[in-house]
Amino acid sequence: MSIPSISTSIRNSLEELAISDKAGGIKAKFSVDLDRVDRFSFDFGQFYMDLSKTHISQELLSIYLKFANEIDFVAKREALLAGERINNSEDRSVLHTLLRDISNQGISMSDDDVLAQAKASKAQFVDQYHQIQQQLSKREHAIKDIIHVGIGGSSLGTQLVFEALKDLNSSIKVHFIGNIDAHQLVDVLSQCELANTLVIGVSKTFTTAETLQNLDSIADWFKAGGVNNPLAHFYAVTAAPSKAHDYGIPSNNIVSFPTWVGGRYSVWSSVSLSAALVIGIEKFEEFLSGAAALDKHFYTQSPETNGCFLAAMLDHYYVNFLCVKSRAIFAYDFRLRSLVDYLQQLETESNGKDRQRNGDPVDQQTSPVVWGGVGTDVQHSVFQMLHQGTSLIPSEFILVRDPDHDLVEHHKELLANGLAQTAALLEGQDKAQIDSIHAQDGLTDLAKRAKIFSGDRPSTTILLDRLTPKALGALLAFYEHRTFCFGVFANINSYDQMGVELGKRLATQVKPLLDPVKPIQDSEQTQKSAEGFDPSTLSLLSKVGSS
Ligand code: F6P
Repeated sequence: MSIPSISTSIRNSLEELAISDKAGGIKAKFSVDLDRVDRFSFDFGQFYMDLSKTHISQELLSIYLKFANEIDFVAKREALLAGERINNSEDRSVLHTLLRDISNQGISMSDDDVLAQAKASKAQFVDQYHQIQQQLSKREHAIKDIIHVGIGGSSLGTQLVFEALKDLNSSIKVHFIGNIDAHQLVDVLSQCELANTLVIGVSKTFTTAETLQNLDSIADWFKAGGVNNPLAHFYAVTAAPSKAHDYGIPSNNIVSFPTWVGGRYSVWSSVSLSAALVIGIEKFEEFLSGAAALDKHFYTQSPETNGCFLAAMLDHYYVNFLCVKSRAIFAYDFRLRSLVDYLQQLETESNGKDRQRNGDPVDQQTSPVVWGGVGTDVQHSVFQMLHQGTSLIPSEFILVRDPDHDLVEHHKELLANGLAQTAALLEGQDKAQIDSIHAQDGLTDLAKRAKIFSGDRPSTTILLDRLTPKALGALLAFYEHRTFCFGVFANINSYDQMGVELGKRLATQVKPLLDPVKPIQDSEQTQKSAEGFDPSTLSLLSKVGSS
């Protein structure tokens, strides 16, 4: 029998606390806990985080500190930092933080080679960045469009960095092509002119079907435009340079990064080449330094003052003891419109696991569904459910105090809306308040009852002074460490992603079955290879295959 990942005494304490939290709510905490805002707010330098409008309390913290002791949290954090092979199913270290700071806050690594690799990889990236810039400056036609071909971790972070940090009037556009659905590709190609377009294929493995197929089709587009050997003009970013070379990209055009950088943790590497070419390498370096500063906080602060630990503690408490199934993230800044997609991969691909580190089934809830959007758009769609729905959905509001435009009134309104939502989620509106607001207007009782908001809905506010490269770096590093902490609490390996493999493998079996024009049941040969699929899939195959 396997050992429970949460001891009975911790589980009992948390269950008991959850009963009182469900009954008491959050509002009441403010009246007994007068310095709660100060106690549960954190200034990370690059941003400020207020956890006071959640169920956080001294009792909760005390229990999680005991839990952290029981599971040896600090030793596990040190193992991450020391480069131990904490990705045990793939026998790999997790070292992407070295790309942000080679010295890694002075804590020595167990493997000197890795440090050398990190140094070399960063230097190579900067070198190649300058070489590419030089080549581009010599071109007859200036680059106006970059097509970044990559998917998942080979795209989401780069897209976020590009959108968040580019000058609003930047003359170069980066198009991100990930999906195999060619509607996206056709649309992008219709916006580009061959002579002004640079193509960068990004894939850690350089085997990803979508990426290779999209690169093939873009090469065909170049050929159709009269370019004989298009691949000679393409760039590749990969941890498998020999594969990119075999594919046809010239060695000089291949920018590599180390295999110990996980796909969804690769935004700090040359994977972000296309964004760096637009924002400039200096801003990219600042982005890395912002993350390094947050790393320092995470590695040096003890759990009780560690913002990453505390945010993960709440995530864990909510899904395991307060029946929460999802967490919502709302960026009140259009430039962060890709943040939710990025965090969805980071958190759910890392922690959406049903196996413990030793292979046993998990005995607790792991990642909630992560979703969200951009304020104020979301206020006119999903916020109804947030305020009056039947599920408790902890939400996160990310606000930026100073905008990078001059339309002051827009920004005031944007901030006012974000702040008002967090206040409304907490306070709600009871019958007495509604009666007093509508004392004179004869509103029916039915309508009044529909206006009741229970309040007590948890929210966290993250406030950036400005959306600088440093602030973005710190913010993303904060989410990474929070994800790590949750993985430690849940006793899972946050660094593999076996769950995406099965569907990919089956797709390669399904594809040939779509080729015959005849309905699938009519073809003896196809029926044979279709063996093993369930009746529903077989029926769908016959409908798709017969078109
Ligand atoms: O499908 C999962 C995944 O392996 C992600 O983890 C990764 O970010 C993405 O595919 C792309 O992989 P690659 O960079 O090797 O093309």
